[in-house]
Amino acid sequence: MISGDMRALNPSEKPPESPCREKKSLFRFWFKFLVLLGVLFIFLCYGLCNDTQSLQESFSLQKHYRWLFVRAHQVNAPPYRVHPKHRVILNEIKENTEPSPVQPEGLQYHEAYPHNYRFVMDNAEVCKISTPFLVLMVPVAPENIVARDAIRQTWGKDSTVQGEVVLTLFMLGLNGGADVEKLKQENQQHHDLIQSNFMDSYLNLTIKTMVIMDWLATRCPTAAYAMKVDSDMFLNIDNLVIMLQTPGIPRVNYLTGLLMWNSPVIRSKDSKWYVPEEIYPYPQYPTYTLGMGYIFSNDLPAKFVEISKSIKPFNIEDAYIGECMKKLGFSLSSPPDSSQFKTYNTGYDRCEFSRIITYILRSSEELINYWTDYKKPGAHC
Ligand SMILES: *[C@@H]1O[C@H](CO)[C@@H](O)[C@H](O)[C@H]1NC(C)=O
Repeated sequence: MISGDMRALNPSEKPPESPCREKKSLFRFWFKFLVLLGVLFIFLCYGLCNDTQSLQESFSLQKHYRWLFVRAHQVNAPPYRVHPKHRVILNEIKENTEPSPVQPEGLQYHEAYPHNYRFVMDNAEVCKISTPFLVLMVPVAPENIVARDAIRQTWGKDSTVQGEVVLTLFMLGLNGGADVEKLKQENQQHHDLIQSNFMDSYLNLTIKTMVIMDWLATRCPTAAYAMKVDSDMFLNIDNLVIMLQTPGIPRVNYLTGLLMWNSPVIRSKDSKWYVPEEIYPYPQYPTYTLGMGYIFSNDLPAKFVEISKSIKPFNIEDAYIGECMKKLGFSLSSPPDSSQFKTYNTGYDRCEFSRIITYILRSSEELINYWTDYKKPGAHC
């Protein structure tokens, strides 16, 4: 590059060498040297990054952060020059700081964060008309009208149970196949459908649960309790309300159901509950309530939504709620009578079904048949 000053000079008149000029060229030399050094440094760094990570991975903020985290740890905790006593402590720290589903502050997760989705139908008025004691939230596939109709005829039928206002609502995502007009008509008839614009699928059940929490927090904050209950359940709603009326049942930070302790994470790829280590690295889940039906005080949904920002989502919705409780620092409660929460049934027993709160069923037909008998007058046992 030629400067304007140089071109203005007469070529025959060589400018006199001056100490100022010498300094200038020395400065230029050092400047070029430093620029070269800088470029070399950038190339070196880039090569080092690619050594441990593919280019694609280094674009992922989360993995990039983890890489930094592990590196920083290695620098801070060399195995040498450490007293054995302290080495144990350092190893403990290392174990606790290895990749965790709960990331450090400032890193947020968006896949399951419900504010990323919007309600297509929200029936926002239902909790303004009345203040429910209990809201039953039933996740169901958009096309599964058979399950919804069975519930509407059985445990979802009565709006007053044991003198308390009870609401039953169905939570749906979007599904390419489902007829939008038909769903609108169904909602006009029953006013019980809530639909959000995420893709409805089995792997997206955590999103569905978090959208349920968002609806409860924003559309129904005055309710006292809520339950997430699957559509294939027999729910003895009378016994559930009686349980919640038991003196001493907490009104806040309360989560109950069938408690699962030390539940192993399923690593077998053909399981319906398979979770890869990249998604959830620990071998066990924290204590959680089985997803078939869990009951919570209605202050919790807003807290779940808030804390979910900092918990990496995974596809096991009930264990994810357990993870939220753990991060919030709340413990789960055993129900007053744990034997009321049953899973697979081996056939109908009128006496048994009058005592329990939940049972998993095989079909909607089964629900209607069992319920019809259970509601017949006369002694149960
Ligand atoms: C889950 O929902 C999101 C948002 O609608 C969608 O992008 C994603 O493909 C869905 N995942 C599955 C496995 O269905």
